[in-house]
Formats: sequence, structure tokens, C-alpha cells
Amino acid sequence: MKALVSGDSGPRLDSVAEPEPRPDQALVEVHAIAVNRGELALMGQLPPGSRLGWDVAGTVLRAAADGSGPAAGTRVTALAERDGWAERIALSPTRLTPVPGGMDWPAAAALPVAGLTALYALEYAGPLLGRSVVITGAGGGVGRMLVQLAAAAGAEVIAQVGSPGRAEGLRALGAHTVETYEEGAAAGGPVDVLVDSVGGQVLAGAFGRVRPGGTLVCYGNTVREELRLPMDWGHARPGLRISYLHLFDEVTRRSVARDLASLVRLVAEGRLTPEVAAVGSWSDPEPALDALRQRRANGKVVLTL
Ligand SMILES: NC(=O)c1ccc[n+]([C@@H]2O[C@H](COP(=O)([O-])OP(=O)(O)OC[C@H]3O[C@@H](n4cnc5c(N)ncnc54)[C@H](OP(=O)(O)O)[C@@H]3O)[C@@H](O)[C@H]2O)c1
Repeated sequence: MKALVSGDSGPRLDSVAEPEPRPDQALVEVHAIAVNRGELALMGQLPPGSRLGWDVAGTVLRAAADGSGPAAGTRVTALAERDGWAERIALSPTRLTPVPGGMDWPAAAALPVAGLTALYALEYAGPLLGRSVVITGAGGGVGRMLVQLAAAAGAEVIAQVGSPGRAEGLRALGAHTVETYEEGAAAGGPVDVLVDSVGGQVLAGAFGRVRPGGTLVCYGNTVREELRLPMDWGHARPGLRISYLHLFDEVTRRSVARDLASLVRLVAEGRLTPEVAAVGSWSDPEPALDALRQRRANGKVVLTL
């Protein structure tokens, strides 16, 4: 079968071995995959020909032999450990959940990494009803999920973006304020929660607004810069809580199938929209991937098979 593997100048299609599901795994035919910024970074570190792929949407071709999980023919979305960028993949039913017929393949593929990361980040943030939450990188894949889930939980959402063009649609998704990082750093005014993945100066600028007893949740360092905070960063904020979330660590302690099902339910109820910014073909992925690399994708980038 074909798979999208790492190459010197981006992913390329190659022939790989068919998956051989264990008795506790279903065989899934893949129809769409989402590409994450983390996978672009990983691709640069792995030897050419390496398999990748976390976000998968497809149809169960063969149910798990042990009888667990959905039957053949069920449409599913799934979080793969790797190897998801392929025509077929063996997956534990603990990593997937059915999706309704009304959800298209790109939307289903856009959910797992971004949706679960946002869901878990906001769990670390604690109760959100009536609290103010600053979200950096709000225009990106995870950011757009965070904005919607925080607003749905009753927070006052302050969405931060790098430039006005990245703000597209954020108010409609539930952001009460949309500002650039510079405007946010200059704004002052205490906030209860900061959720950051950008890191560096953006994190430092937004951190200045976190109140004593507030919460900082980090899940990335996109700019790959060291963090410099003022000397009194902690003394000025007694009771501050800091969490760092790593999705593939979280999933070892959580029910991915249940949490994916919660996200699918929110989508089905119209309370969460998987924002798909670009859909490309996996046989010509570069235009869509370039939009992601160049910070032009206001949401998720999806490839269809
Ligand atoms: N810890 C985990 O388990 C986990 C899970 C998922 C994602 N992540 C990480 O979280 C970050 C966001 O992921 P994502 O999938 O949402 O990525 P994305 O869609 O590419 O979004 C990245 C966001 O960061 C902002 N940004 C600021 N400076 C940037 C720069 N120099 N280069 C690129 N983007 C920049 C972009 O917004 P502006 O252009 O408006 O600034 C964009 O909204 C990534 O670093 C990713 O690796 C971590």
C-alpha cells in the first residue's frame, strides 16, 4: 500500500508493508489525515522514509478480532501513535470513535490532536465559568479549538494572534477580544488563565497579565526561544499554578475514545467547529503544507486520500 513518508524536502508517497492488526486492533481504511505543526518539525528530525501520522479519519475495514470496538463499515476518527499517513492502519478501538454521516472526512481528521490538546489544556486551566482566559496562537489549529471550548465553558476569551489577518473568524468562534501579541502585552489588566503554545517573548508578554493565584498552561514552544521572565515573576503572583501538557503523555492516563466521542458530540450539536483552513490531496501535499509552514492556515490543514 501507499504511505506518505518523510523526505528531504517534505513528505513523499512510497510503498510500505500492509498493517497486520493484532487481535485487539481494527483495520481502518484512511480517507483523510490532518497535518500538525509538530509533525512538520518531527519530519525534519527523522531519517528520510520514516512513517508519520497522528490524525486519521476513515472507515473500519475489519473490526478487531477480539470483538472490541466498532463493526466493519463504521466511519471513525482516530488518534494514531504514528503511521496514520497511509492507505490503511491498524488501530486499537481505545484510540478511535465513530463519527456521524454528516461529518465530512476533513472535519473528522481535524479533530483528534487539536481537539484533545485543547480539551486537556482547559482541564488544567480549571473551572472557566466567568474567568478570563488569554489564548496565544489563537488563529492556529489548536488555538481555534481552545477559543471555542473556553467560550463554551463560560470564559471571557481573549484571543491573541500574530497579525490581524490571523484573527479571521475568531469572534464568530466565541472570542470576546481579539488582539495582536503586542497589543496584548501592552494592554495590562489582570487575567485568570493564560494558555500558551507560542513561547518566547509572546509568552513573556502575556504572562505579565496573569494575576496572583492565576493559572498558566503551556503546551508548546513554537518559536523555540528561551523564556525570560521578570525577576519577581513568582513573588508577584503567589498561588500561581503552572502546567505543561504533552498530548502523548496525557493519553497514557486518559480514555481517548471517550474524549474523542465528547468532541464528536460537541461538533454534532453545533457547539464546536473543526476549522479546516486548507484541504489538499496527499499526492500533492505541498500547497497545503506550505500554508501551514508559512503561518497562512487559519485552522487545520487536511490531506485527503
Ligand atoms: N504538547 C503537545 O502535546 C502539543 C499538541 C499539539 C500541538 N502542540 C504544539 O503547539 C503549537 C501549536 O500547534 P498547532 O497545531 O495549533 O499549530 P499551528 O496551527 O501552526 O498554529 C501555530 C500558532 O502559533 C502562532 N505562531 C506564533 N509564532 C509563530 C512562529 N514563529 N511560527 C509559527 N507559528 C507561530 C501562529 O499564529 P500567528 O501566526 O497568529 O502568530 C499559529 O496560530 C505547536 O508548536 C505544536 O507543536 C503541542
